[in-house]
Amino acid sequence: MKNIAIFASGSGSNAENIANYFAGSSYAQVSLIVANNPNAYVLERAKKLNIESLTVTKAEFMAADSLIEELKKRDIDFIVLAGFLLLVPQKFIEAYPGRIVNIHPALLPKHGGKGMYGDRVHQAVVEAGDTESGITIHLIDVDYDKGPTFFQATCPVLPTDTPDDVPTKVHAREYKHFPHVIEEILHTLD
Ligand code: GAR
Repeated sequence: MKNIAIFASGSGSNAENIANYFAGSSYAQVSLIVANNPNAYVLERAKKLNIESLTVTKAEFMAADSLIEELKKRDIDFIVLAGFLLLVPQKFIEAYPGRIVNIHPALLPKHGGKGMYGDRVHQAVVEAGDTESGITIHLIDVDYDKGPTFFQATCPVLPTDTPDDVPTKVHAREYKHFPHVIEEILHTLD
């Protein structure tokens, strides 16, 4: 059984969706949820899902060593960043080489980089007059949003779309694709 840890900073709807996807699997399971904000709603979801959670401060996350130790103690094989807003320090990348995946709510390399997360990304897409957006699932490198892309899916952006329409379409792609793409990446590591 492969053990997945999900790192999230906010609502955690992707975390819940991924946990439910693997709930019946004998291949992989979400065994830990890590939040960097004690008020993140993802912690409520973890409770409801009966999944262990840990909260870390930004300083603890950046120092890395103690969290890496906690992950190793729990035999975590793979890390999923699902709405996680801190830059992953080099020590994590060395501890989990090729085993950290992120989802970005746009078509990288457009609208990525420091400070580009959540609604800010969707706003940038609309302001740029883009006719499509989508999701990018990529492995993590030292720079924000720069690791090799594993998967993209697109959605149309229409001139009639309200500011809520774009995130709704993007979230739908995330829910549909992120879990099976994680499973595919896990299989490449077998
Ligand atoms: C998701 O749309 C994810 O792609 C985005 O945050 C949202 C989290 O939603 N991630 C980023 O913007 C990272 N740069 P959720 O907490 O409901 O899963």
